[in-house]
Amino acid sequence: MFSGTSSTSNAVELSFSIVVGACILLLVLITFLILLFLVKYNKRRHPHPAEVKEHRALEIVWTVVPILIVLGLFYAGWADFDYLRTPPENALPIQVTGRKWSWGFEYGNGKKSDVLRVPVGRPVKLLLTSTDVLHSFYLPAFRIKEDAVPGMKTHLWFVANESGTYDIFCTEYCGTGHSHMLSKLLAVPAGEFDAWYRAEEAAAPGGKGAQLLQSRGCLGCHSTDGTKTIGPTFKGLYGRTTEVTTGGKEREIIVDEGYLRKSILEPNADIVQGYPAAMPVIPLTGEELNEIVEYLKALR
Ligand code: CUA
Repeated sequence: MFSGTSSTSNAVELSFSIVVGACILLLVLITFLILLFLVKYNKRRHPHPAEVKEHRALEIVWTVVPILIVLGLFYAGWADFDYLRTPPENALPIQVTGRKWSWGFEYGNGKKSDVLRVPVGRPVKLLLTSTDVLHSFYLPAFRIKEDAVPGMKTHLWFVANESGTYDIFCTEYCGTGHSHMLSKLLAVPAGEFDAWYRAEEAAAPGGKGAQLLQSRGCLGCHSTDGTKTIGPTFKGLYGRTTEVTTGGKEREIIVDEGYLRKSILEPNADIVQGYPAAMPVIPLTGEELNEIVEYLKALR
């Protein structure tokens, strides 16, 4: 009936159509009866109201039929809910982390990505959580969404039916960068997915530092090409003279290595003027911090 992009869009669209179909039928039927009775039982035709006696059969019909309709609607919704909540045993688990303001994906073998890559035709189970505030993972093309809650695991599952690229949104207002909290779902043929899954992490251009900026979600708020987004761009940052607010006092600083380190470890110590004090603390090892600082210094 539906050429749905996923198992879940098929299920949700079927229920949705049943509910909307029932509403339209009832709307048409009730509107028709209102108009019919308006004409048929008009005062001019029936100046003297008739005495209405009990009509048991009719009363049973108008009680039982709506009950059956409502129970039918309940069943359609409940069966779908059960389907959406119950991933099959063999589903491929992927950890999804929401954070201000990006999505991170981690696979069973430790592979990390900032886009969600899944095999077509195989069930995938997303295990969602958040490192900071409430986010909500939304895949409109697949008709599914679920909250990402700090300290809690929630889940979603689906089978992608067709290769393609689909939008991922955050649908819970989570602060300044909420509208930038976007990602993509890449549904690829199973063979291509397996090759990617097994492959060693390709050396990203810019090396490990660039890769960390991407996988930790830094690029959700900072561009590397000079574009102003939620935070200042990384391009030409090192050595730049910048106006910052420190403890309520404005001052001018030159971005050196010490400032870069401090800005990552204590993001809200010095706030660059014209930007919100919105950066979360990103957990990093000492080595990762070094890699990022070296990369930022080189990004002219
Ligand atoms: Cu995360 Cu809105």
